Amino acid sequence: MAGGRKDTGTVSPWLEQLQNLDGTGRSGIEGHFGPRERVGSGVMIKLMVGNQRGGVGKTTTAVTLARCFADRGLKTLLVDADPQGSVGQVLKLRPEHFLNDFIFGQLHLRDCVVRVHENLDVLCGGRSTTEAEQRAVGHFGRERLFEDTFSNYDSVYDAVIVDVSPSITLMQACAMVYTGHIVVPVSMDTLSVSGAHSTLVTAQTLAKSTRAQIKPLALLPTIVNKRFGITEVVMGLINQVAENYDIPVLEPIRTDQAVTKAMRKKAFLHDEDPQSKALADYQVATDRILELFGHVPAVSTSEPQSIGDQTHAAS
Ligand SMILES: Nc1ncnc2c1ncn2[C@@H]1O[C@H](COP(=O)(O)OP(=O)(O)OP(=O)(O)O)[C@@H](O)[C@H]1O
Ligand SMILES: [Mg+2]
Repeated sequence: MAGGRKDTGTVSPWLEQLQNLDGTGRSGIEGHFGPRERVGSGVMIKLMVGNQRGGVGKTTTAVTLARCFADRGLKTLLVDADPQGSVGQVLKLRPEHFLNDFIFGQLHLRDCVVRVHENLDVLCGGRSTTEAEQRAVGHFGRERLFEDTFSNYDSVYDAVIVDVSPSITLMQACAMVYTGHIVVPVSMDTLSVSGAHSTLVTAQTLAKSTRAQIKPLALLPTIVNKRFGITEVVMGLINQVAENYDIPVLEPIRTDQAVTKAMRKKAFLHDEDPQSKALADYQVATDRILELFGHVPAVSTSEPQSIGDQTHAAS
């Protein structure tokens, strides 16, 4: 299997479908395969995790939600549109190809993704994402670049999550237009609320200029420690923003050392500490997000695996 992905030996029908995509995989996909029955309501979940403030838990949220979706049986693609390449770092991936190769290199998506877990593929970002950004600037209809390229795989995946950088970039605009839904993690400082507000303003402006449907899905309080006085203040501000934009606030993700440990060990929170309170909170957030997409509550389909069972671990 190309793309730095280790072959697990068994080929699932889903993987077969991905392998059979023709040519660049960018045309006639539906015609070739017909619609695949989706898990849940049948509505594809596409969301961007964004906040224009750095360090608010975007990557942690994107990675953990992606694994939560995958564990519930949703064929999930996690895309890293951040040139920092945080997702690849957090999971210690060594891909052969990156987002830039997929968008401009005419490569199959199957050759660019890394299978990191059952039902979960990652398309990594990195420094070459900046190159993609520069090339995209001269592209006609540039904000629709992700839509033009990824939509061809909508029959393959049930869920696509895009992690983006804190700065406003063209890649972020592409992610907003393609996914049409934004989950905004907000950590417990006032600049994080300003960052969330800026993201929502950007979404509105972009929706207007591109006539794309972009809906902020929810605000997600992160790294929450109720013992700090600032928490109440920030939660008050978050509720105000939510009211102004008429979007829900999800149950908060508590501060948890298990998150830091998982990051240090380059593991999913699920494998580092399946009993952790942050993971319990992310499971609640997953339920709510699925609900917002109209999915019926689903039962987790796979038991947490040990780190050694993962197929991505780079030696
Ligand atoms: N619930 C949590 N409890 C404790 N630490 C957390 C929690 N969530 C995130 N963190 C830590 O906060 C830091 C920032 O998280 P993360 O990298 O996910 O933020 P980010 O918004 O993606 O940052 P950037 O803007 O640089 O991309 C990391 O060290 C992460 O381990
Ligand atoms: Mg990040």
